[in-house]
Amino acid sequence: MTAPDDASKDLARRLTEANEAVFAGLGLDPKHAAVRRSDRPDLGEFQCNGALAAAKQAGRKPQEIAADAAGAWTATDLADKPAVAGPGFLNFAVTAAALSARAQAIADDPRAGAAVVRAPRRVLVDYGGPNVAKPMHVGHLRASIIGESLKRVFRFRGDAVWGDAHFGDWGFQMGLLIVALEDELGDLSDTASVGARLKSLSLDDLEAMYPAAAAKAKADESFRDRARKATAALQAGEEPHRTIWRAMHDVSMAALKREFSALGVDFDLWNGESDADPLIPDMVADLKARGLVEEDQGAQVLRVARAGDKRDLPPLLVVSSEGTAMYGTTDLATILQREREIDPDLYLYVVDQRQGDHFEQVFRAAETAGYAQREQLEHVGFGTMNGPDGKPFKTRAGGVLKLNDLIEMAREKARTRLREAEIGGDFSAAEFEDVAHKVAIAALKFADLMNFRGTSYVFDLDRFISFEGKTGPYLLYAAVRIKSILRKAEEAGVAVAPIAIVAPEERGLALALDGFDAALAQAYDRRAPHFLAEHAFALAQAFSAFYGNCPILQERDEAVRGSRLALAQAALRQLERTLDLLGIAAPERM
Ligand code: ARG
Repeated sequence: MTAPDDASKDLARRLTEANEAVFAGLGLDPKHAAVRRSDRPDLGEFQCNGALAAAKQAGRKPQEIAADAAGAWTATDLADKPAVAGPGFLNFAVTAAALSARAQAIADDPRAGAAVVRAPRRVLVDYGGPNVAKPMHVGHLRASIIGESLKRVFRFRGDAVWGDAHFGDWGFQMGLLIVALEDELGDLSDTASVGARLKSLSLDDLEAMYPAAAAKAKADESFRDRARKATAALQAGEEPHRTIWRAMHDVSMAALKREFSALGVDFDLWNGESDADPLIPDMVADLKARGLVEEDQGAQVLRVARAGDKRDLPPLLVVSSEGTAMYGTTDLATILQREREIDPDLYLYVVDQRQGDHFEQVFRAAETAGYAQREQLEHVGFGTMNGPDGKPFKTRAGGVLKLNDLIEMAREKARTRLREAEIGGDFSAAEFEDVAHKVAIAALKFADLMNFRGTSYVFDLDRFISFEGKTGPYLLYAAVRIKSILRKAEEAGVAVAPIAIVAPEERGLALALDGFDAALAQAYDRRAPHFLAEHAFALAQAFSAFYGNCPILQERDEAVRGSRLALAQAALRQLERTLDLLGIAAPERM
């Protein structure tokens, strides 16, 4: 028997609990009783495959075990007695009453049917990671999209979450830029002329200076050497290096903030590698004092290789032979800083999976130094966004892609698509632009998030921006369509009524609504937003089938009409919530 308040739990969980009681009653291990949404809905909406493992454990025939379990099923208010299929699968069909109650609970729930985690944690999400003065590349784009979604998912489930951009603002590129400025001005000794130049410094300047300086450093050893020394001087706090750095940092940061805001990405902490710098001297002294670092060709390194490693993990470079802090140094010091200021239970580093070794080094070093435990530190890696050649996406000129240019490219395509579809002809210019922007962002984000993050995908704007198929714009269109239905229902004075699931398409929609919590839990547990992207698409499709067969406004029966209206409202709330968790915003109309 299930209590009525159980409708707050999803159906798979309640079926599992009931089935666990059945298994336990038969003397079988309840861990085999798990019931899941079936991937063969033609055979049953939910299924349990555990009879096979239970039979093995008990030394009996799976079909017998399944038949016993089916016979012992008593929770018939929740589901009919399960059918036994194939080698011993149990197939369940939930009752219309249980499904109606579940849909009603979702409709009444401001969280749209999503449970809250019971033991909230403190979670630090390190994502985005753009570098000051260097253009953002597609790796930063993916990190921003996936990280933003994970931040929202963790927060929505009830954790305390901090998103930190962790700008790359402390490395060799800063030294390069300082030396480039020195060559431009002749020398850096005249404070007034340096000050005047910095006042006029623009993002365009920086974006032109960086590639030129990087190319020069490749060809010219003495230039490279000067850049290394300038990096060391900056890190040692010398002037005018500090002042130059500050100006470049601020120009770059203002531009990055604009771009991130256009992308719907917002950080709680706009920290950079440089923010951990004050901790580095003490950290290095402490590591030395405890004998954790050793000298290696003039550098200080911390060994992280372990017996049984499958690959060679080089030591973490803590201080370079020039005396500078390296990428790993700032990452290690940042852990110390975060421990002091935030004390996270969990750290998620949403960074290109090709940086896997770097993070393994940093995490092991942090553990060796006693700053954090290995299990608290996770590298949430992702694949690349590729061009048609299968290599990481580049512009036509072969350069790295600027985020701004990418967004504008997507916006332009969105405008064209909207015009082709004759959408927005009667909108004001501002509304049309807003819709085009939302379509563009939805297209880019959904195309990224619909794949498991570890999978690489090919950039194909035409496909991403289509209003048909599994795309962001299709989902926006679905949300907008429900909004318009709800507006019309309101104008017609239709009132909601208790949800009663009858038609197969109502059933399909209610089952889709019920799937939200599991999708959310999987996205959370596996740090993988694609489960929610999948859910959004399934929900939109279920709504479309529902609306095609179950009219609302034209329905004569008041109770049926009201029930369907309540279902549509629940579908919109959950779809918008799911899109929001993906970082996607829907317009009011389009
Ligand atoms: N700035 C780095 C890059 O461009 C990414 C930073 C990733 N986060 C971190 N904590 N290391 O590759």
